Amino acid sequence: MLIKDNDTRYGTVSRILHWGMALLMLVQLLSATAHMLFDETPFEELLWPTHKPVGFLLLVLIAIRICWALTNRYHRPSSVSLSAKLGHIALYGLLAVVPALGLLRQYGSGRTFEPFGFPLFSGFEGDKIAWMVQPGNLLHGWLGWILFMMIIGHIFMVIWHKRSSTDEDVLPRMWR
Ligand code: HEM
Ligand code: HEM
Repeated sequence: MLIKDNDTRYGTVSRILHWGMALLMLVQLLSATAHMLFDETPFEELLWPTHKPVGFLLLVLIAIRICWALTNRYHRPSSVSLSAKLGHIALYGLLAVVPALGLLRQYGSGRTFEPFGFPLFSGFEGDKIAWMVQPGNLLHGWLGWILFMMIIGHIFMVIWHKRSSTDEDVLPRMWR
């Protein structure tokens, strides 16, 4: 079993992080869609309570993933093009910024936050902290939707490379 990455394929740790986060992002997409389109329906009641804890878990995982990517940066498959490289960097960036803005707003709102029962913020009395709340109000939802679009583009590009007769099929690097 290959734990670390090498020049031709991603290792077990990168794969667990990649596919685990892909699954959690699907849950996040469902909860965000329920919030936007199915407000006050059983669908939203079921899914929306998962949004903050799963988002927090994704923030922890992306921090681990960035550290792992940096540790492996000289021995992992090289990007097929500059645009693929920039696309992956943008994905990493948004995967960190979107939940970070949500969490910052959560703290600034003064409300308690206990993801999966873990007492992260105990909350406080008094006014909200504007500089913590406003960036989230302005950007969290929009950047979240942009992130989901980029992931759809990412999946589309994987299929594109696979079907093209001239491009390298990159799926075996992450899947088999
Ligand atoms: C069906 C869904 C998906 C498929 C088939 C897929 C496939 C792949 C493949 C084949 C690679 C390797 C590309 C290469 O080396 O050139 C890759 C890399 C990557 N994927 Fe995905 N992916 C999927 C979903 C996602 C999701 C949901 C995310 C975001 C959470 C994501 C984020 C990334 C990132 C950031 C990389 C760069 C490699 C790294 O450093 O981890 N992917 N993906
Ligand atoms: C990668 C993780 C995350 C993604 C992709 C994400 C995505 C989104 C999206 C797309 C929306 C807009 C839904 C709509 O249009 O109705 C949204 C809303 C929201 N999110 Fe997140 N989120 C994440 C993490 C978090 C975290 C960690 C928190 C708080 C701890 C949070 C709190 C909220 C709240 C309160 C809303 C409703 C207010 C608003 O639209 O800004 N999210 N999220």
